[in-house]
Amino acid sequence: MAMIEMVQSQDPGSEGRVHAMGARQIYMALRDQILGGVYETGSHLPSSRSLASELGVSRTTVTVAYDQLAVEGFIEVRQGARPRVASSLLEDSPSSARLKRAGPVRLSAYGGRLRASPPWPDYLPNAPKIDFRYGDLAPSDFPALIWKRAMNAAMAQRPVRLAYDDPRGSRRLRQALQSYLWRARTLSCDLEQIIIVSGSQQGLDLCARLMLDPVDRFVIEDPCYRMARQVFASTGASPVSVVVDQDGMKTDLLKGVEARLAYVTPSHQFPLGGVMPISRRHQLLEWARRNDAYVIEDDYDSEYRYDINPVPPLHKLEDCSSVIYLGTISKTLSPMLRIGYLVVPPELQDVFAAAKQLLDRHSPVAEQEALAMLIESGAYESHVRRVRRLNGERRESLLSALRHRFGDRIAIEGADAGLHVVVWFKELPRSLEAPLIEKARHSGVGIHSISPLYDRRETGEGRADQVGLVMGYSALSIQQIEKGVRILLEAVEQMKGGFPETNGDDGLGRGDDKPGL
Ligand SMILES: Cc1ncc(COP(=O)(O)O)c(C=O)c1O
Repeated sequence: MAMIEMVQSQDPGSEGRVHAMGARQIYMALRDQILGGVYETGSHLPSSRSLASELGVSRTTVTVAYDQLAVEGFIEVRQGARPRVASSLLEDSPSSARLKRAGPVRLSAYGGRLRASPPWPDYLPNAPKIDFRYGDLAPSDFPALIWKRAMNAAMAQRPVRLAYDDPRGSRRLRQALQSYLWRARTLSCDLEQIIIVSGSQQGLDLCARLMLDPVDRFVIEDPCYRMARQVFASTGASPVSVVVDQDGMKTDLLKGVEARLAYVTPSHQFPLGGVMPISRRHQLLEWARRNDAYVIEDDYDSEYRYDINPVPPLHKLEDCSSVIYLGTISKTLSPMLRIGYLVVPPELQDVFAAAKQLLDRHSPVAEQEALAMLIESGAYESHVRRVRRLNGERRESLLSALRHRFGDRIAIEGADAGLHVVVWFKELPRSLEAPLIEKARHSGVGIHSISPLYDRRETGEGRADQVGLVMGYSALSIQQIEKGVRILLEAVEQMKGGFPETNGDDGLGRGDDKPGL
């Protein structure tokens, strides 16, 4: 290829026009030609004078390009001679075709485990208009103005220096949380026990890294919060699934179980909604003491209790030695802010801080400071009161729409707290779960099966063969909730004709097979 053509083809905008080009274009064109084998090793390039006149550029422009190629070892330049393609080039830099990997993708054991069982698809493009997906919040609930002001104030605080911060998180936020946890949850702890994390998920990941090895076992509720199960299993450790009933994990089944940690949601079991009674709490802590194990208490939605009194956390019942408490603002402010917090036993403070530092140094500081300001000023708690009222109204409308449309053909669980309910369809066999989800989706309503949250659904407490849905309501308006339930009823009615047995796929390709991780 002539040099002019070659340089033009590097510049898609030139459209055949020959115009003065820069040294960088000339350098890139020549480099690609050398790597592509157009110029062989040892062959000569044009002199700078002739290339400059061919391209209509100054000789200096060409010289700059040649100098750069020489510095990078592509060509050898000698005074008075035409530049030559470096003789060492072929052995040292194979062509791009030869650089392409030939073998299979090589991953660590961890990478292999993730590949075999990728996490739950949290982010779903093309979500239906009315989606009962659990975990989303209504954008209109977000206190945009207050947050903007707090962020502006946080950014305006002239930092004394621009440097890495404490891996445990902003001191101001930890102080604010320390008193918030006392006011809201009667939980008392030292400042140093609090570690700010990028959402509960990072807190769980830190626990998994620090507590589990591939030979270990961990106790988990069945059904459970799948992201917790997956992050623990990603270490190679094996799950011990313990059945849940209306009072949370059946802790009597822990007898004889050896494991390094137990993950529980005792204030509001996810997803079934039970509150763990005091006797089971003591049984669990006693099990942890005997096994020298840690209990991770995920207090993800404690701000939302409707007809029942707040339950003090498990953390309160012991001397801070075996419970790791986990909180988040994903249910009160936004899941997109990615702010959560751990309260760890004093002897684990340093190692958690070290692991957090290795992961991402620390969470972003401005958002932490803004949250601290909201908590200090009382704006956070008045926001919580407001969203509790709004979500209480949504919950009421969902419950009354479900009762109105379905009467006693359904059973509802876990409605006293949180932002979701579990709905069992007594007359629909589980084999209709996938077609029902599909039918509702076609009518613009997203519904989500409980099946993937189980390890062994068949051994779960009752309802093993009923269609079960986890219905979140916190992102929907009252009108959407009512309309969604009406459409759901239509879909259920259409199921009545009977559908062929399916493999239990939930319509998202996840099926109800056990999570591989
Ligand atoms: C049981 C449970 N824990 C924690 C969370 C919150 O996770 P994060 O703080 O990572 O957003 C959720 C969110 O859905 C949840 O269901």
